[in-house]
Amino acid sequence: MSVQTTTENPGYMSGFGNHFSTEARPGALPQGRNSPQRAPHGLYAELLSGAAFTAPRVENRRTWMYRLLPSAMHGEYRPLAHATWESGPFKEVDTPANRFRWDPWPAPAARTDFVDGIVTVAGNGDPEEQSGIAAHVYHANASMTDRYLLNADGEMLIVPQAGALVIKTEMGVLDVAPGEIALIPRGVHFRVELREAQASGYLCENYGAPFRLPELGPIGSNGLANQRDFLTPVAAYEEGPRDVTVVRKFLGKFWQARQSHSPLDVVAWHGNLAPCKYDLARFMAIGTISFDHPDPSIYTVLTAPSLQAGTADCDFVIFPPRWLVAEDTFRPPWFHRNVMSELMGLVRGVYDAKAEGFVPGGVSLHNCMMPHGPDVTTFEKASAATLAPHKVDNTLAFMFESRRVFRVTRRALAAAHRQAAYDTVWDGFRAPQAGN
Ligand SMILES: [Fe+2]
Repeated sequence: MSVQTTTENPGYMSGFGNHFSTEARPGALPQGRNSPQRAPHGLYAELLSGAAFTAPRVENRRTWMYRLLPSAMHGEYRPLAHATWESGPFKEVDTPANRFRWDPWPAPAARTDFVDGIVTVAGNGDPEEQSGIAAHVYHANASMTDRYLLNADGEMLIVPQAGALVIKTEMGVLDVAPGEIALIPRGVHFRVELREAQASGYLCENYGAPFRLPELGPIGSNGLANQRDFLTPVAAYEEGPRDVTVVRKFLGKFWQARQSHSPLDVVAWHGNLAPCKYDLARFMAIGTISFDHPDPSIYTVLTAPSLQAGTADCDFVIFPPRWLVAEDTFRPPWFHRNVMSELMGLVRGVYDAKAEGFVPGGVSLHNCMMPHGPDVTTFEKASAATLAPHKVDNTLAFMFESRRVFRVTRRALAAAHRQAAYDTVWDGFRAPQAGN
């Protein structure tokens, strides 16, 4: 049995959606068959299916786990309240036909772990329909030690903004720092430890078809996010009797039960349904070398498709450091309206379409057909710029772009840190002089 770890990143296997094989104890992984009758070392074989059995090969995702105890071994789940993590269909309040921007969410004063620290900003679709996404922020100041989460409603794309996370999952351990992302498949148990006193960031909960790499079309076989830069952990497990709590998110509600063993007791596994992480600095940005600039779809890291071709439930798009060299153009995003809805966050630095007001940890939301673009300062500066090669540096913005309108939550709409005067960003433009 060989574990295909990377020399550069020991503890990880390289690739996106590959069929991985890994064992934390020699001989724990059966060879040539799945061996559910008698697995090695007295382990229990358990299949995790992330796609219908009959899904086409390109869509099919499943993993065989060899564990100390079956994950079925637990008592009844009972309701658990969660004050700030909300779910589709997000119809609690009407979403105004406005543009929105928020300053960073305040850090909690009380002890708050990753699960408790999730606050929903906006979302669309419905977990019951397995379609749509929710956009959250999180703020934690405590590690999950004896508490685990299983999200049956969706896959979780975690975008840390401050504070590194150690995400312990059934398939192994992900170390994820700001500038990296983590992707946890639907239904995988995990807990989150903090490397530092505080951690905050963004989260896309994807109810629909899982994220995958976008097609590259005429770009060819290289570019954007390269497959080998995605890292999946090797098997690692927790053993021994422990009194732990498992929280399940199911149909938008929270449930919990206690059990006498860690759900992270998978000694070996093989399959293509597994968590992974990706360093956004590895993204190979593509752009024009002539004039104008391409649509931001050129910065798509991952896409979660809908049934309508080219029209995603969610595109995860980044605006990383990059060279701008085009002639005869306006380099920041120009004025536009979009049938797709755009929710943005900022990991670090300054976003090139706004001079101020959009800060790391903040969120902006430009829903379907809401006009937006540069503010006056950015417009005037970019319009007068000498178009020599210029590097946009020390910045990392991102967008969750969705075919569905984001409905805002009552809490986000009423938040004191929502910028009530956001519309004034676009005040001060002057019409040309008559006869000009
Ligand atoms: Fe936009």
